[in-house]
Amino acid sequence: MKKTWGGRFKKPTDPQVEAFTESISFDHRLAAFDIEGSLAHVQTLVKAGLLKPAEGKKLTAGLQKVKKLLEAKKLPLEPVLEDIHTAIEKAVTKIVGPLGGKLHTGRSRNDQVATDFRLYLRHAIQETVEAGTHLIGILAQLGLKEKETLMPGYTHLQRAMPITLGHHLSAYAFMLTRDMDRFLSTWDRANALPLGSGALAGTNHPFDRQWTAQKLGLKSVLENSLDAVSDRDVYVDYLSAAAITQMHLSRLSEDLILWASSEFGFIEMDDAFATGSSLMPQKKNPDVAELVRGKSGRVFANLVGLLTVLKGLPLAYNRDLQEDKHFVFDSADTVTASLKTMAGFLFTLRFRRERMRQGADKDLTLLATDLADVLVKEDVPFRLAHEIVGRVVHHCLEKGKRLQDLTDAELGRFSDLFPKGTAQHLSVLHSVNAKKTVGGTSPKNVESQAKTLASEIQKIKKKLSGL
Ligand code: ARG
Repeated sequence: MKKTWGGRFKKPTDPQVEAFTESISFDHRLAAFDIEGSLAHVQTLVKAGLLKPAEGKKLTAGLQKVKKLLEAKKLPLEPVLEDIHTAIEKAVTKIVGPLGGKLHTGRSRNDQVATDFRLYLRHAIQETVEAGTHLIGILAQLGLKEKETLMPGYTHLQRAMPITLGHHLSAYAFMLTRDMDRFLSTWDRANALPLGSGALAGTNHPFDRQWTAQKLGLKSVLENSLDAVSDRDVYVDYLSAAAITQMHLSRLSEDLILWASSEFGFIEMDDAFATGSSLMPQKKNPDVAELVRGKSGRVFANLVGLLTVLKGLPLAYNRDLQEDKHFVFDSADTVTASLKTMAGFLFTLRFRRERMRQGADKDLTLLATDLADVLVKEDVPFRLAHEIVGRVVHHCLEKGKRLQDLTDAELGRFSDLFPKGTAQHLSVLHSVNAKKTVGGTSPKNVESQAKTLASEIQKIKKKLSGL
């Protein structure tokens, strides 16, 4: 097949080079955006007087026809066509004849691919944020529902203080809210037009680029043509937001995997969201959460991968840039699917509230800090209170007794400043209720967190609908 650039070559391309350099096997995903960009370019050419209105109409109809062929999967997408841009141009030319040769006026594949990919990125951001917002909604809803469910909170994976399950779940909702913010701000930066930059230096033709941007729903034009065709920073933005999101999902997964173990026994996974073993008949495994955790390897690698491709490139376009797509497609698919699957996993699982409550309530020394705070109220310096309670803790562990079951006499042996009935006033419920300063784990706070989250979700949705 004749190359669009074949004029200066005397020999056909080596088949191995053809196979090595093609990108159509993956950039066919840009097809709809390429057509969108070309439709706008045709209008730009008409406006600039480079196409007669009738020619513009004919090319537009040709592009629409190609779009239909693509949708019906009837467009040949063979590697000899090099890339999706060439495939579409050739298909249009087949339909409209030599007029097809005018479509590429004032345009290079360099500004074309940069435009297509930005249009794709906006679409990807929309999908990711929609999935993320849904998951935040589920976490916030579960958070509110479980605002009074008591459980041990951990540091160093050692029981630390009582918390509410709602507080724990809401924590992830807040993290994901910031992630969505990152995606949405990436949108703002991606929302600018490269088309009109040509191969690298701009164009000799009187293109009204701002007008073209408007046609494509883009807010502005990229003002420097070298920047426009050679940077890929908005994809690094996206990949970075995706990596952080996947990291958050991975931590959530880790919690859920632990909670699903017999040792914790805090959750029961729904049969539809768990998997079995081909050998051990009794197994019910958290593969969904494990894969979300595992896929973070890919999503992190994609970020480092694109940075590595970019780091040594001289201005302006270099073919290395073709490699940008794998990373972005893969992270977009992975993070969006992870967000969606995690939503289902969470929504269907059952919390074993009694096990959680017992994990906190039966623990011998979980209320040690609350006991130290009793002494602080009696004006004992915290460091000293810590020391005294440390000794009480040692006593409890030796006797196998809970702090809340100690008698006044027993406590009195460690300090005469413990008021009467101190131990009896200690309870897991009292401990979480007392954490009422903003940010604390009390059910009241969790309730107000749910309100904040609901308004964050509204903000994200509003922004989404205005994109
Ligand atoms: N497939 C190419 C890419 O993805 C399109 C741009 C080709 N430009 C060029 N000068 N060879 O980057």
